[in-house]
Amino acid sequence: MNKHRVLTGITTSGTPHLGNYAGAIRPAIAASRRDDVESFYFLADYHALVKVQDPARVQRSTLEIAASWLAAGLDPNTVWFYRQSDIPEIPELTWLLTCVASKGLLNRAHAYKASVDKNLADQLDPDAGITAGLFMYPVLMAADILMFNAHKVPVGRDQVQHIEMARDFAGRFNHLFGEHFVLPEAAIDDSVATLPGLDGRKMSKSYDNTIPMFAPPSELRKLIFSIVTDSRAPGEAKDTEGSALFQLYQAFASSEETLAMRAAFADGIGWGDAKQSLFEVIDRQAAPMREKYEALIAQPIEIEAVLREGAIKARKFSAPFLAKLRYAVGLRDLREAPTSMRDRTAAAKPESMKPASFKQYREADGKFYFKLLDGDGKLLLQSIGYASARDAGQLIAQLKSGGDLRHEPQSGVHLGDSLIGTLADNVDLTELTAALSTFAEENA
Ligand code: TRP
Repeated sequence: MNKHRVLTGITTSGTPHLGNYAGAIRPAIAASRRDDVESFYFLADYHALVKVQDPARVQRSTLEIAASWLAAGLDPNTVWFYRQSDIPEIPELTWLLTCVASKGLLNRAHAYKASVDKNLADQLDPDAGITAGLFMYPVLMAADILMFNAHKVPVGRDQVQHIEMARDFAGRFNHLFGEHFVLPEAAIDDSVATLPGLDGRKMSKSYDNTIPMFAPPSELRKLIFSIVTDSRAPGEAKDTEGSALFQLYQAFASSEETLAMRAAFADGIGWGDAKQSLFEVIDRQAAPMREKYEALIAQPIEIEAVLREGAIKARKFSAPFLAKLRYAVGLRDLREAPTSMRDRTAAAKPESMKPASFKQYREADGKFYFKLLDGDGKLLLQSIGYASARDAGQLIAQLKSGGDLRHEPQSGVHLGDSLIGTLADNVDLTELTAALSTFAEENA
C-alpha cells in the first residue's frame, strides 16, 4: 500500500501557544496514529532566522516547541520528527528550487508584498529593511515539503499560497528534469485551523495576543480573563458568532459542552462565568501535558537525543533522494560517461505528452523525405531528400532510438555527423528532442 504522507512544521520563533496546539499539534498527533499515514513533523528553525535575530530565543523556542510536541503525546518512533537544520539536504534543495522558481511569483508572496506595501505607505524605498530571507521564505518552505514528497500539508489559511508555490516549483522542476516530486496539497480543517487570540484577531506571535500552551494555571487564568468581549451585562443575550471566547471554548470543549455554552450565551451568561468555564476546559487538557512538558524542558539532553535520532531517520530518505536530484540537474561524477540526448530528453518529457509521428513521402524530384510532427500535428522537423525510402526509413529509426542531435544555425539539424534536415519555424532543439523522447519511451 502506498501510504499517504503528511508533513508540517512549526517555526521556532517563540513560545508555543494554544493556536499552535489546537491548529497544528493536536490534529497532527491524531493523524499520526492512523496507520495509512506517514507523518513528518519538524521544527522549522531555518525559518525562524527570517524573523528572529536573537540566538538565545531561537534555541529556547526550539527546545520549547520540541517539548510541546512530545508532551502532547507525539511518539517519535511512529513518525519522522526532526529539526530542519539537521537536514543539510533541505538548504541544498532550496538552491535547486531557487533556480527554477519564478521571481515574479515570489514578488506576489503575501508576506513579502505586505512588507513592500507598508514601505510604500510610509514613503520608503519598497524594499527598505526587507531581507532576501523573507523574499525566499516560500522556496525554503517548498524544499521542506518536496524533500519528503509529502502529499498533504496541514496548515492555516495564511499558508495556502506557500503550498501553491511549492506545487508550482515542483511542476517546473519535474517538467525540466523528470518526474521527481509529488505535487503537494494544503489540508485545512476549518473547525480548528485558526484560533483567535486575546484581541479576537488570529492568535499569533506577530500580534502579541497569544495564550502560551503551558502557562502555569494562574497565568492562564489571568490571560483568559483578559480576552476582549463586548460590554453586554449578565442577563443580556450574547452572540456566539464572532466571539473569540466562544471559538476558544469550542476548540477545547466536547460537543455537548459546546452546545450547552451556546445555550448559555443565548440565556445571557455573564462574561466572567463564561471565562471561568473556558479556563476550566483549557486547563483540563493542558494540566497533564504541562507536567510532562516541565519534566522535558528540564532534560534538554533527552530532547536533543530524540531530535538527532529523528535526523538520522529523516536523512535515510533525504540523502539518497537529493543524490538523485543532483544527478538529474547535472551535478554528476565526471568519470561517468555523459548521457545521450535520449536520456536527457526522456527525463525532460512531461508525463502527459502525446506521441509524435513521422510522415514519409516522395517529392517530384524523385527523392524520399520525411517530416516529424508533434502529438498535436505541428511540424517540427523537415528532412533533406534521400535517394531511397530505405535510407529515409533508417534515419527515422535512428531518430526514434535517440541518437545525438545538434542544431547548427547555418545548416540545420545534424544527427551524429550528418545533416538530416531543418527545424520548422519557432521550433527549437529541445522541443524536437522532447517529441522524439515519446518514441524512446515506447522502446524502453
Ligand atoms: N511557514 C510555516 C508557518 O509559519 C512553517 C513552516 C515552515 C511549514 N516550513 C513548513 C509548514 C513546511 C508546513 C510545511 O506556519
